[in-house]
Amino acid sequence: MSDNRAPSVRTPPYQVTIADSTGEAHLPILEGTLGPAAVDIQQMYGKHNLLAYDPGFRSTASCKSAITFIDGDAGVLLYRGYPIEELAEHSNFLEASHLLMFGELPDPQEAEQFEKEIRHHTLLHEQVLNFFRGFRRDAHPMAIMVGVVGALSAFYHDDIDLQDRDRRIRAAIRLLAKMPTIAAASYTYSIGRPIRYPWNDLGYAGNFLQMLFGVPSEVYKVDPVLAKAMDLIFLLHADHEQNASTSTVRLAASSGANPIACVAAGIASLWGPAHGGANEAVIRMLKEIGSVENIPKAIARAKDKNDPFLLMGFGHRVYKNFDPRARVIQRMAKDVLEHLGINDPLLDIAIQLEQIALQDEYFVTRKLYPNVDFYSGILLRAMGLPTNMFTAIFALARTAGWMSHWLELTEDAHGIDRPRQLYVGHPQRSYPKR
Ligand code: ACO
Repeated sequence: MSDNRAPSVRTPPYQVTIADSTGEAHLPILEGTLGPAAVDIQQMYGKHNLLAYDPGFRSTASCKSAITFIDGDAGVLLYRGYPIEELAEHSNFLEASHLLMFGELPDPQEAEQFEKEIRHHTLLHEQVLNFFRGFRRDAHPMAIMVGVVGALSAFYHDDIDLQDRDRRIRAAIRLLAKMPTIAAASYTYSIGRPIRYPWNDLGYAGNFLQMLFGVPSEVYKVDPVLAKAMDLIFLLHADHEQNASTSTVRLAASSGANPIACVAAGIASLWGPAHGGANEAVIRMLKEIGSVENIPKAIARAKDKNDPFLLMGFGHRVYKNFDPRARVIQRMAKDVLEHLGINDPLLDIAIQLEQIALQDEYFVTRKLYPNVDFYSGILLRAMGLPTNMFTAIFALARTAGWMSHWLELTEDAHGIDRPRQLYVGHPQRSYPKR
């Protein structure tokens, strides 16, 4: 069950008072379990005809949520209260998905049942395969994912009953189960290999690897080190609070739309280079830098406000400290490269770049630290993934978070989300007589 504790309302004097010509309004302050409190402005428009102006939502809590907590200053990320580092060490993606979706770690029986449910929903309806064939071979996997996941919503539309909890859970499990099949097919289709069927005797990450890299002419053996690394990538990307793509899913879902279609909207939002697309951009940037000697030039460009160049994989809207996921993934990247005997010059450039940037006054004063994307690309590249698949893997993993937020939202619906605006256009005027 999702844990939707209502925030406690502080009693006066813990309130914000606003005053205008119509009088004073006392706005209550809501406290969560952790993190900053929030001024409840819901009555501000109705009573005082005032809106809150916060483009980019830098100071806006768009909802209450009990799923994930981030303390950006301290570099803390908690899934349902558990630190991401502890989950990375002791848990796995499916267990973490259960935790995110239902609020608690599963006991062994629940874990087995959850895994069984996932395994038995991995197949795609054969008609779905026709959608892949409609794409050009050089289509970006994220474009294919947006299209195919959107199309998938048509296959289960009548089965989704938002009022029925069991059906809501089935919709969430179904999509989580099918995402590896869709993501792998987006890749194999683009390189002209046959689309692979899932193998239910494999784990979630191992099965994804066989669908990505297996060919019908050979038996595919899953490398357990790579399966563990892939599972860790999934776990680290599973949820991240009210980011752009999750907010997109929630906003779309607030109208009561088909959740699978809402996830297609989330995938579109994730694709951008300021969000999930950053791991692709990091690899492009490291290649462009080319060698350790060119790092000072790259740093100078990133600091130059007349140059659009940014240090991709650096900076975060919420973290003003190390992204805790970046440390975990950096360690895993080193282990996997060692296991595979790969000496990737991009890793050397990344390590040096990080060291230099972390001592540079520009990055220090702006609290720009490496985020999860800084090393995830290097790890995925070592595992044989082409750059354009990086964000598709992120989308697959984030489906756990998107569906958790969708389940939370449907259990705590507050009607359609409808932001307002500060209108700065022309006042009313008459159509000119000509
Ligand atoms: N390189 C150089 N300068 C930067 C960078 C960067 N990567 N990121 C921010 N800055 C600068 C800004 O120019 C700004 O400088 P100013 O104060 O002199 O004007 C200052 O740091 C503050 O930056 P904001 O733009 O306010 O930060 P914001 O919270 O809006 O942006 C974002 C965060 C979008 C992630 C930004 O840091 C960025 O574009 N980073 C590179 C892309 C990236 O790695 N994205 C992945 C995010 S993580 C994820 O989605 C999984």
